[in-house]
Amino acid sequence: MSVTYCADTQTFYLDGKDVTYAFCLTAGYPEHLYFGKKIPHDSLLHMRTGGAAEGTIPFGSTGRNMHTIPSELTNYGRGDYREPAILVENPSGDRISELLYEGHEILSEKPKISGMPSMDGGETLVLRLKDKLTGFQADLYYTAYDDSNVIARRAVYRNGTNGKAILRRAYSFSMGLPGNGYRMLSLHGAWCRERRMEIIPLHHGVVSIDSKRLSSSAALNPFMGILSEHADENQGEVYGVSLVYSSSYVLKAEGTSGGDTLLTGGINDFDFHWDLAPGEEFETPEVVLAFSDCGLGGMSRAFHDAYRNHLINKQYVKKPRPLVLNNWEGTHFNFTLDKLKAIIDGAAGTGIDTFVLDDGWFGYSRDNEKSSMGDWHIVNPQKLPGGFAPLVEHIHSKGMKFGLWFEPEMIGPNSDLLKNHPDYAITIDGREPCLGRCQMMMDLTRKDVRDYIVETVNRVIRENNISYVKWDFNRNATETYSRGRAPERQAEFAHRYALGLYDLCERIVEANPQVFFEGCSAGGARFDPAMLHYFSQIWTSDNTDADDRTCIQYGTSMVYPLSAMSCHVSHSPNITTKRPISYKTRSDIAHLGATGYELDASDWTDEDRARTAEEIKEYKSCQDLILEGDLYRLDNPMTSNYFSFLVVAKDQSRAILTTYRRQLQAGGEPKRIRLLGLDPQKNYRVRELDLVASGSTLMNVGLVTRFPSPLGDYQTLKFHLDVE
Ligand code: DGJ
Repeated sequence: MSVTYCADTQTFYLDGKDVTYAFCLTAGYPEHLYFGKKIPHDSLLHMRTGGAAEGTIPFGSTGRNMHTIPSELTNYGRGDYREPAILVENPSGDRISELLYEGHEILSEKPKISGMPSMDGGETLVLRLKDKLTGFQADLYYTAYDDSNVIARRAVYRNGTNGKAILRRAYSFSMGLPGNGYRMLSLHGAWCRERRMEIIPLHHGVVSIDSKRLSSSAALNPFMGILSEHADENQGEVYGVSLVYSSSYVLKAEGTSGGDTLLTGGINDFDFHWDLAPGEEFETPEVVLAFSDCGLGGMSRAFHDAYRNHLINKQYVKKPRPLVLNNWEGTHFNFTLDKLKAIIDGAAGTGIDTFVLDDGWFGYSRDNEKSSMGDWHIVNPQKLPGGFAPLVEHIHSKGMKFGLWFEPEMIGPNSDLLKNHPDYAITIDGREPCLGRCQMMMDLTRKDVRDYIVETVNRVIRENNISYVKWDFNRNATETYSRGRAPERQAEFAHRYALGLYDLCERIVEANPQVFFEGCSAGGARFDPAMLHYFSQIWTSDNTDADDRTCIQYGTSMVYPLSAMSCHVSHSPNITTKRPISYKTRSDIAHLGATGYELDASDWTDEDRARTAEEIKEYKSCQDLILEGDLYRLDNPMTSNYFSFLVVAKDQSRAILTTYRRQLQAGGEPKRIRLLGLDPQKNYRVRELDLVASGSTLMNVGLVTRFPSPLGDYQTLKFHLDVE
């Protein structure tokens, strides 16, 4: 049983793998009591303190100050001055809500959110709240999992009034944390610099991260880590908040005057409102809350378990992935059939099993980003005379499969698509549209537009024996407006875009179960849990420089499992940074994810092929660890000269350690690494060091590695550990 209700104390307990989440009813108001390490179901009512605050407004007969009660759903207008989770304009025009307990249900099957991705499985509590005056309702959903240390939450708002209600804000949750003095981790970034870590102290007042782009964005991932005072990578209490959403969002942490901390968030209420007719419901995206008492590492492992077990496509999540060669960095738009054949010939026989043809294959003149976007019905006749058939035949003759790049959400100014359907583009009549990468976005809020895309993309997939799709998204939204929608409903656009996107993904992914889908957004600009539900891996960054990748992959791993990150070996010097890095280092770093290649293999020699085959063989021998293992981050490349990832099998029988040194230290230095996550009682053989030591010794004393001095900068060492 994961959900327990204790009627005596009116307390709900949700038990996950090693965590407990508890809240009680205080005169019908859901008051947060605890989220932390698993505890027995003792009464926690002594936790209800309600500290002093300015201008005390007592809550009903409790005499307690509403403003200081740790809340499961903050309301507005009844004496709570913190960030409300819900702001609804009632039919009378007032914006007051007081949502109090009406009843609850415990469901053994977690219901899906209609039209939005969410985690599956797990016993679920539905807490039904109602405003007794207006009739407006909120159902709070809580799911606990016995295999991961997370609680999934969301809210469904229902207009139980007798007139139109307007949601001005409809967050997914609020949660009170005891005390203040926390720090917040966010993952910020930009193109080629995704998911860098930033840790700042929280203060009194609100600290928020958000997106207004209709994409979760590279600027700020929809994630917030809340670190207690002394927490770091491997120790201390940490909370994680990860939103399963791909459009404009907001997450907030508020230091309150009562001395506590309030977390809230969900769909961004900037430029948002949503009309609800009587009886209509509004479902919010799911938020996944993680707890760890062993630092950020434990928080990441909680998210990794939860997303691998309950969010990512079960058909693919723990299966060996296609090992692709993608031609983008090898050719960009500039290829011919002969060139592609030469690349495929170069890679044949190495273990690369899928050739992915990237941008440039469609329309009459797709020789750069300025042309033909959306003309998926035309295979470029100059580059691929005779269509795909000769290419696909060649790929198959080499024992490989065919993958193809699309950017289904976009439309170009000089495309047939725009000529035939000018209204499909997101534009405002009379206003020059802002172009991003020379293109516009399509109005996915419209069903006819989605139908057109589904039909066109599915036809190309069906007719060309495609087994891999890379789904790109290269710009953010402007002129957010949908023709045909009433003026007073235009601020529903950002969320309706998300719903449209999910419908598109659902219909294309479901129609093609034999196809492996990879997400992409100008690199990793839409790397979020919702996209991961449809696309089992996501292109992590357009920056394939191994040194920069250590930082990008380190940051990404805060929330997302290694198997979610597409990581390719590319040319040296790197095309973006011009940094020369050895083949071994490039492949060792790329092997810490769903690996592949991103280069022109047409000039590969037998020696190159043999080396690649060896590297792929090595990757495959450890792939189960990448797909299912527990990650321990041992050295942070953003704060040190080193990067070390240790991946330990769930049964602790094996592990791989990859250590990277950015710069040679003159004179050489031994590097001591203390391992984590091993079985202290068992002996492990460290293959490369000819060393046998107990897990206990390896974790407490560590092992000593030496990078041979002549190797220079940007070097890796890899160690395999096996239980004796
Ligand atoms: C951006 C992606 O991140 C690249 O990998 C590549 O697919 C280009 N788009 C193609 O336009």
